[in-house]
Order: sequence, then structure tokens, then C-alpha cells
Amino acid sequence: MQRAPAASSKDFLSLLDLSHQALDALLARARRLKAERPLRAGAPTASALAGMHVAMLFEKPSLRTLSTFEIAVKELGGNTLHLPREFADGGREPLEDVARNLERWVDALVVRTFAQSRAATLAAAARSLHVVNALTDEEHPCQALADALTMLERWGEVRGRTLAFVGDGNNVATSLAHVTSMLGMSLHVASPAGYELPDAVVDAAARVARHGGAVRRFADAREAVRGADAVYTDVWTSMGQEQEAGRRRALFAPFQVDAGLMSAAAPGALFMHCLPAHRGEEVTADVLESPASVAFDQAENRLHTQKALLLMLLG
Ligand code: CP
Ligand code: NVA
Repeated sequence: MQRAPAASSKDFLSLLDLSHQALDALLARARRLKAERPLRAGAPTASALAGMHVAMLFEKPSLRTLSTFEIAVKELGGNTLHLPREFADGGREPLEDVARNLERWVDALVVRTFAQSRAATLAAAARSLHVVNALTDEEHPCQALADALTMLERWGEVRGRTLAFVGDGNNVATSLAHVTSMLGMSLHVASPAGYELPDAVVDAAARVARHGGAVRRFADAREAVRGADAVYTDVWTSMGQEQEAGRRRALFAPFQVDAGLMSAAAPGALFMHCLPAHRGEEVTADVLESPASVAFDQAENRLHTQKALLLMLLG
């Protein structure tokens, strides 16, 4: 079996937990795992996690993340345990106690919750429990790994490329800022006033930037997209913000990705979306279904990058 890249930290709460070397190795490994998947039980990693247990604690809905972690663990020969969502808010017992119990039984915890601080609390409380961020209000690092793999597959080399993110400066945009900076890309983020990528995220991205990677914020979608190699968007209303949906629909309307906006990007530019997509809101149906769209490749790549991540943390 190929050796897994060394983990840079016990947990994966953020892209910032990975060294540049670990990120590069993880993406390279994900490509190999993707190529080996047709071997099924004959794949060299089919029993890499034999005898290991991974707990899943999801406080918000999930199709892609939950399915791909479940399949990833099983395809690597491990077991999964699904915990009721009530345990994620510390209401029944403190989060520290949840983590200290889990570490006696399982090797890793994949958690989707609201505040990033909840994931951090779980991680800090248990020295031998590997905690993976499956989305918080602040970050979605597993998504950004799959997005990086998708761009690498399309372009061979991502360094020097420009990605334009149009919409809310949210969890997905934050993890994209981290990963693009680490990979030497430019990220242009266009958002309505009040929904920009936070200053702290831009600063953190600058600290981990390599090879000229940089984040720039824009108030105008067309300016951000001009000449970009890919255009990315996400829902205008994230999970937990449902009561703001009406206001957001009005404010974000000028930030819809449609064919006109795509035409401002570089010829052959990709369209990216983490999904779920709301056709007619952040993206028009024709763009999502166009040959430029790699949204379902991104969804597929969740599996391969998360396998590489599990091997890095547990292998
Ligand atoms: N992109 C993503 O994380 O999808 P889910 O919310 O369905 O997991
Ligand atoms: N920003 C979205 C991403 C969903 C995968 C949310 O948090 O709901």
C-alpha cells in the first residue's frame, strides 16, 4: 500500500490545519484513489481502516458530505457510527464529555455543526480523537479539497489561475480563499455590501499564500469575473439563515450567475457550485446544465479527497 502523507495536525477543522506539503500530498493521493476505485475490493487501500470506527455527528442536513464520508470509510474497510444530532449542541452533556466518551470507542469524528467553536471544542477535549469539519457556519474545508481536485483535473496545474466566487462571503468562500491561496491561485470574491468575505479570512489566506496566491474582494460581479478561469457560486441563504431568505433574495439578485456573466470570464471558463443549487437564484438552469459546469464532478470528488483525508489522519 502507498504510504499516506503525514498529517500536519490531529484534526481537520480548517484548510489552515494542513501544511502546504500535506495539501499537495493529499491531492496527489486523491487522484490515485480515484484511479484505483474501479478495483473495488481489490484496491490497495480496501482494508486501510480495518478495525477502525468513524462517528458521524450531523446537526444540519447533508446529501453529499454524509454520503461520501460513509462510502469513503466503508471503501477503506472501516466502520461508521451515526449519532443523533442532539449531541452536537452540548445540551444533553457538555461537548467536552461527548468527545471524551467517543475517543474511548472510535478513531475519528466527522462533525457538521453551526459554530466552528463547537468543532474546535470537541477536538481540543480528546487527544486521540481525530475531528473532521464536515461544514460549520464559518468553514467548509472538505468541499474546498474536492474543488481543488476538480480544478487540478481540468487544468493540470492550478498555479496562476483565477477563480471568481460570486455571492455570499460564507463558509464555502472562506475555505476556497484558504485553498486557492495555498495553491498559488487568485481568488476574486464579489458580494453585496455587508456580505463580503471577512477581513480575518483575507488576512489568514495571505498568511498561507504561496506562489503569488491572493484574494481580492469586489462589489461588482462582472468585474470579479472578468477574465477568470472559473466562476463559482453557492446558495444565497445558507443552512440556519432561512429566516433571512427574502431579504437575501433581493440583495443578491445582481449576483446571479447567468450566461451573460459567464461570457465575461475567460473563454472556456468552468462553472463551479458546491451544491445544492437553487436554479433561478444564484445560478440559472442553463449555466448549471451547460458543458462548462463541473458541479457534479466536484460532488464526485468529495469521495476521493475525503478518502485521502481519512488516510492522512488515520492511515
Ligand atoms: N456540498 C455539500 O456539502 O453538500 P451537502 O450539504 O449535501 O453535504
Ligand atoms: N453555504 C452553504 C453550503 C452548503 C453545502 C450552507 O452552509 O448551507
